[in-house]
This record gives sequence, C-alpha cells and structure tokens, in this order.
Amino acid sequence: MQTFAPVTPEIVERLQTIVGAANVIHRDPELAVYGRDETEDLQYRAEVAVKPRTTAEVQAVMRLSDETGIPVTPRGAGTGLSGGALPVFGGIVLSVERMNDILEIDEANLVARVQPGVINQVLQEAVGEVGLYYPPDPASWGSCQIGGNIAENAGGPHCVKYGLTKDYVLSLEAVLPNGDVFRTGGKLRKDVAGYQLGQLLVGSEGTLAIVTEATLRLIPKPAHKRVLLAAFDSLDTAANAIVAVYKSRITPSTLEIIEKAALEAAEEHLGRPVPYSDAEAQILVEVDGFDEESVDRDLMRVGEVLMEAGALDAMLADTPAKEEELWSVRRCLGEATKKVAAYVECDTAVPPSAVPELLRGVRRVAAEYGIRQISYGHAGDGNIHVNVLTDSPDREERERKLTPAIEAIFAVATSLGGTITGEHGVGCAQSRYLKLCRDPVAMRVMKGIKDAFDPKGLLNPGKVFEAKIPPPVAAV
Ligand code: LAC
Ligand code: ZN
Repeated sequence: MQTFAPVTPEIVERLQTIVGAANVIHRDPELAVYGRDETEDLQYRAEVAVKPRTTAEVQAVMRLSDETGIPVTPRGAGTGLSGGALPVFGGIVLSVERMNDILEIDEANLVARVQPGVINQVLQEAVGEVGLYYPPDPASWGSCQIGGNIAENAGGPHCVKYGLTKDYVLSLEAVLPNGDVFRTGGKLRKDVAGYQLGQLLVGSEGTLAIVTEATLRLIPKPAHKRVLLAAFDSLDTAANAIVAVYKSRITPSTLEIIEKAALEAAEEHLGRPVPYSDAEAQILVEVDGFDEESVDRDLMRVGEVLMEAGALDAMLADTPAKEEELWSVRRCLGEATKKVAAYVECDTAVPPSAVPELLRGVRRVAAEYGIRQISYGHAGDGNIHVNVLTDSPDREERERKLTPAIEAIFAVATSLGGTITGEHGVGCAQSRYLKLCRDPVAMRVMKGIKDAFDPKGLLNPGKVFEAKIPPPVAAV
C-alpha cells in the first residue's frame, strides 16, 4: 500500500499561516466531519482540514503538499456518493466551503462566474431572480457545491432535458497539484483552441486539479412547468412506459421512475403516506416551457401516452404545494434508502430504451443471489440507482455477500451497452469496477492523464483507479 508523509505540528502551523488559524481544523469532533461524505457509512481520518478563501491560498497549500509529500483531498459539501471526498490516506482535506462568492451574473452573455463553494440552490435562486436558469440539480442541491458538482459532473432529474454539469461549464480556473494556476478560456460559446482542458476537469473527481473559479453557461428560465405522477401495477409496465414517452417525441424536463420498495422507504422516512403508495411503480414527469398552453398540451399528451402504456391512474399537481409534495418524495429517496439497511449503490446507466431490460436483469440477479434491492432514478436518462441491501452489521461479511451480486448487476448493465456509474462517479467506492466498462487502452490513457497533471500522485490519491487503500475507521 502507498504511504505518504504525515502531518506534523509544524505543518499545521504552516497551514495556519496560509489560511489563518481559524480556518485550520485539526481536532475532533470538527475534524471528523471532514473524514466522511454521504457514501454508505464510510468514515476516514483527515489529519487536518483547511478552508482557503482565495486562489492564492489554494496555491500555497498545494505548494506545501508538493514540497512535503503530504496528500490533499479536495472537498465541496461532502454530499458525494462514491467516496470522492474521503481522505483515505489521511493528509490534508482542502475544503472550498469559504470560496462561496457568486462573482458575476452576466445577463448580456448568459453566464455566471462563481467560486467553487457556491451552493447549487443558491446559484439557481440567484440566477432565477433575473429570469435565468442553471439546470443541473442533484438531489442534494440544497447543500452540494458547484466545485463538487464539477468534480463529479453531477446530474439530477432535469438532465433528461437539459444535460449534465459538463454542458454548462464554459471555462475554469484551476490549481495544479504543484501549485501552478491555469485558466481554460473565458465567457466564450465557441473556443476550440487546443485540448478542452476545462471539460477534462469536469468529472475528474478532484484527481487532476482544484477548480477555483467556474464560468457557467445559463439559459432563460422556463416560465411554466407542470408535474404529473402516474401509478403502475408492475415495474416492467412502468419501464416500458418510459420508452413510450421517448418515442412520443415530447421531451419532459424530468422523467423519473420509483419502485414500490423505494416508496415504502420514503413513507418510513417521511413518516407520512405518499401518493399512490400501493402502486408497484410510479413515474414522475415534469414538463416545462415558455408557453403555458403548449406546456399543458405536452403534459396531457405525456399523460395519455402513460395511460396507453398501461398506467392505472395519473394525478396532476395542480398547486405549487402539491408539486412540492411529489418532489419531496422523490428527493428523499437516497436518504430514505440509507435508513433501511446497510447498502451499496450501483449507479447503473444504460441507453434509455434498455431500462426495461436493466430492471428485469436487476430483479433476476437479486433473486439468484438472495439479496434485497431498491431501485429508482432518472429513467429518462437510462440512469437507475440500484441499491443492494443486507442486514449484516459486519463490513467484511457484507462485502462477501454483496460483491458477487454487484458484479452481476454491472454485468447486466454493461451487456446492455451501459456503465457502472451514470452520475455519482467512481471515487474509491467503485474503482474496482471501472475496468468492467473501460477497456485497457482507455485505462492506460486515463492513467497517463493523471500522471501528467499529478506526477507525484498527491492529489486525491486512492480514487478512480483501483488501489489498495486502508480500511475505514469507526465513526467518531
Ligand atoms: C438521487 C441521487 C441518489 O437521484 O442521485 O436521488
Ligand atoms: Zn440521482
């Protein structure tokens, strides 16, 4: 296993000089927070956490890392689901939470310039006030930060119409592991000067450079939206209905599927009944646009398509409060599932037309391996979060039991032309499975890119590429 230089009291003092003593955390219980994210129950031990405010401070921290051989793990809000922000080898956690300024909303160019610690929802609301829209909206949008969204190329329900984080990143400022800073362009819609380094950083999971500023594309905010929930008596019928919506040539702004086990978890979590709770599956659709009549017409048409495809019933959210009620069920599913039992999530994605086959395959695997699973997600994007569960409190036993089932689920996904992660990233949680969907040549090229950015391997080690990492520690 790789080893790194330790954080000594002298290093802590140097970090205090760089960012100010108040912004260096080196004692529990505050420090423990920087050793976990939202991935399963994983907890690691950062030796120290720093909270820089400026690009120059990030540069100084990285120079110190480069000089001493201490690893740095960059961190946004810690809402990640693949362990990307976990300091698996200890060292320094660099949290961008204080770099949280919206630097500019440029209404003439439809662009926002932001620091990486800006919370997704804060940005959405700020640009919304001037009639603009930043669509990527992970379930954690109320707390996740743009820097983390860029690192993970975050998605969310609205990607089915509007695309992922990558579709909104025009250019970045970033700091290399050796402390050098570079910019990848400006407020340009078109810029093909050389390799697209900004796009390369999107989804690089904090392993290549630390984003210190982002120039993001905005779009006009649709003035109208309508939400509809449809109930089905079988998951298979619901999955086929998703394909029927695709074929209808209407592009909803969200197209989500939820199976019964997820609804049960939501009821337990929310402590109240959810609509259509006895349905075997639900589809949640939103349609948006600028013309109220056409939004209504499209929603009605989607409703008809779903009924023709076998829906038992459908309800329109006719007030904002009803819309919020339907969305709160959908948005809580990650947290709700977590409470059911120890779990591992397979963030599968397949071509949208293969969703019915994927869900059938998942059920087959669950039956064959005798495991429980809960599936839900962005079916319109072909992205299904399959959570495999076990009641065993012992981590090693859980791994022994679940790993063959996880491999079988990923085998189903990849046999359908799919991937092992649609939007949560590889991190350390999925790194052993990356080879299931990337060939050896692609792996070699990716490793070469990592080495070019980070020749000493000090930035977020133990992520993306399969590596032997220390076991997690007990929660503090
Ligand atoms: C969601 C998260 C888990 O879709 O990605 O709820
Ligand atoms: Zn999701």
